[in-house]
Amino acid sequence: MATEKTAVGIVGCGNISGIYFKNLTTLFSNTRVSACADLLPERASAKAAEFSCRAMSVGELLADPDIMIVVNLTIPAAHAKVARAAVRAGKSVYNEKPLAIARRDAQQLLRQADQRGVRVGCAPDTFLGAGIQTCRKLIDEGLIGQPVAATAFMTCHGHESWHPDPQFYYKPGGGPMFDMGPYYLTALVNLLGPVRRVTGSARISFERRTITSQPNSGRVIQVEVPTHVAGVMDFACGAVGTIITSFDIWAAQLPLIEIYGSQGSLQVSDPNTFGGPVRLRRQDDKEWSDVPLAFPHAQNSRGIGVADLANALASGRAHRASGQLAYHVLDVMHAFGDASRKGRHVLLESACQRPSPLPLGLKEGTLDE
Ligand SMILES: NC(=O)c1ccc[n+]([C@@H]2O[C@H](COP(=O)([O-])OP(=O)(O)OC[C@H]3O[C@@H](n4cnc5c(N)ncnc54)[C@H](O)[C@@H]3O)[C@@H](O)[C@H]2O)c1
Repeated sequence: MATEKTAVGIVGCGNISGIYFKNLTTLFSNTRVSACADLLPERASAKAAEFSCRAMSVGELLADPDIMIVVNLTIPAAHAKVARAAVRAGKSVYNEKPLAIARRDAQQLLRQADQRGVRVGCAPDTFLGAGIQTCRKLIDEGLIGQPVAATAFMTCHGHESWHPDPQFYYKPGGGPMFDMGPYYLTALVNLLGPVRRVTGSARISFERRTITSQPNSGRVIQVEVPTHVAGVMDFACGAVGTIITSFDIWAAQLPLIEIYGSQGSLQVSDPNTFGGPVRLRRQDDKEWSDVPLAFPHAQNSRGIGVADLANALASGRAHRASGQLAYHVLDVMHAFGDASRKGRHVLLESACQRPSPLPLGLKEGTLDE
């Protein structure tokens, strides 16, 4: 493993950035935050003061020779542009999700990174947490037999009641599928492998949303993207998945993710968190039972994908929260919309390998070499 910590530069110092600063500074033993930038310089200055790093402009950060990985925590509409600029500057880049909004932009980013010899990583990295790694182990060891089907449900009434700046959730790149779908779909692809074809239906249920959070309470958002998306996925392994992501539901009593196998069923932990519970019920069991988590990183370990990328860069191995995985997930999300508009199944053009599972025995804050 690298003896020196890998220097990270964070672009985008908004709502989610705090946990990245914290974890890349104190949780992971192989990373340090060298600098940060934001379109609003006061946000970068505040984070720099709190986490003892340098605040600079985006241009200065991309030109800084110390920085190996640019962590791009901007809003979805800026993901592709910032990431491509980082790649042009010869840096590896790790985007918050989604990888980009348009497939074309994501493809171009991956191509440019290949040409430049740098890596692209992407959130979510919750699948590297204790909960979903434990699920992966159970499936790989055959505890539920051959996966037959899966369900995934993310239902809520949107983010305008709590997020200080929620407009982007209702613009292209937002909506429940592009916002929360990556957690569910990345978890499913990690557990079951790539998706072969999808179909789906999508709608905008409420054309306007009124912000009730501060400081923009009362402001009205024009909704531009579907806020209820129902999809069916045929995985290459043969399992059939059903997913609903919705910002239109006040209350529901649905599981988050369940995988149904030929010999039992698995309740997967919340893919938006890192821990458990993980619950198993095999064919002869009378009850569900809680499965002890077999891996570290059960707490909020956002940034573990960046730490994994840092080790991968040092050793030359593949990184797990990869651009290829994120591109496949982006392709699936778009394909639900395509299928809804066209009224048919859509065959996916992308595929990806399942990321390799984490080894047993890692310590909190460390990744394999
Ligand atoms: N807020 C959450 O709970 C959460 C959770 C997980 C993932 N995410 C994802 O993280 C990303 C950021 O979300 P957020 O909630 O922190 O948003 P935010 O609006 O709070 O912060 C984004 C920041 O990026 C800056 N920015 C925008 N464009 C920029 C550019 N071109 N160059 C430099 N800075 C730029 C903005 O000024 C802002 O400070 C999104 O992709 C979102 O989907 C958010």
